[in-house]
Amino acid sequence: MAGNIFGSIFRVVTFGESHGPAVGCVVEGCPAGISLDTEDIVRDLRRRRPGNGAPGTSARNEEDSPEILSGVFEGKTLGTPIAIVVRNTNQRSDDYDNLKNSYRPGHADWTWDAKYGFRDHRGGGRSSGRETVGRVAAGAVAKAFLAPMGVTVTAWVSQAAGIDLSGPGGPDPAGRAGKRLAELAAAGDSAGGFVSCRVSALPPGLGEPVFGKLPARIGEAVLSIGACKGIEFGAGFAAALLRGSENNDEPVPAPRPGPDSSGGDLPPGVPRLSFKTNRAGGSLGGISTGMDLEFRAAFKPVASISAPQKTVNRNGEIEEIRISGRHDACILPRVIPVVEAMTALVIADLTLQHRSASA
Ligand SMILES: Cc1cc2nc3c(=O)[nH]c(=O)nc-3n(C[C@H](O)[C@H](O)[C@H](O)COP(=O)(O)O)c2cc1C
Repeated sequence: MAGNIFGSIFRVVTFGESHGPAVGCVVEGCPAGISLDTEDIVRDLRRRRPGNGAPGTSARNEEDSPEILSGVFEGKTLGTPIAIVVRNTNQRSDDYDNLKNSYRPGHADWTWDAKYGFRDHRGGGRSSGRETVGRVAAGAVAKAFLAPMGVTVTAWVSQAAGIDLSGPGGPDPAGRAGKRLAELAAAGDSAGGFVSCRVSALPPGLGEPVFGKLPARIGEAVLSIGACKGIEFGAGFAAALLRGSENNDEPVPAPRPGPDSSGGDLPPGVPRLSFKTNRAGGSLGGISTGMDLEFRAAFKPVASISAPQKTVNRNGEIEEIRISGRHDACILPRVIPVVEAMTALVIADLTLQHRSASA
């Protein structure tokens, strides 16, 4: 099977099925001497966990305890492959027995059979959200690499169940979204929404100008997350409705950064710029501008709903299925660290690529 490795210099392979013995990752290409603590990984895994208390998430209580098997010595990376494993301890595979021969609407069951003729049906196997444990662990390593440069990656839910959580949105939007999600869950249904993300203190110059553009790399990374249906940068699709005079970000001279600033080094003779606005979302021509990288990604409503649904079984017959088990009415709160992880992995990779860009 192709497509289990991500990145070119700072690379990760994730492994594991939802209800197999373990999930995890091997990070390859992380430079030596980076401070890395298991606690850095635990913190992000805790944010990804079901039952983390966020509205709409399920009550499963998976205890995700990462174990670093290699590549770290006395709290620092060795430059060798970093293997991180997280045992699966809270599977209830029986919940999935009735789905062995049914194709769940909105899931990858039929497409897996169409491609391989064989699948691990328990909990969605490799297409499960559980696979993202390995991504989040690898992302924690990428964040540790970026931290000394001052680069931070922050994601948040900006809209859930049609309720805007980032703008004024009326009184108590989070409470309203929580209430709507609780109603949907009670009705056996689900909702989607948007996760926004910002990368701060990103130096200018990251990203390749032809193939490997910064937004293209981020797009591939974020669209590889289950249930992600789209991504837009800066003004995004709304820019298509603006005039050039409205959309262009006006460049202004910027002071040289101080010795502790993470502004990045520019080639000799190139003036330092900033921009009055950031409708571009932090990149021009595929290369970072030095403004924050800003994007938002759309996530579909969770496919596993408990309301009865019509589908087709392995014999090609129409049937009605009921999906039992523990599922989130909205996965958005759990997607936050996954979006951060995939973004951090891309930025780490592009940072190393940029170091070989010119003499
Ligand atoms: C953290 C995370 C948790 C997820 N949990 C669920 C879930 O509980 N139920 C579900 O139907 N889909 C869940 N998904 C989404 C499915 O993995 C995804 O929708 C499915 O594999 C079909 O792929 P597609 O939606 O990308 O086409 C989750 C995704 C992520 C990233």
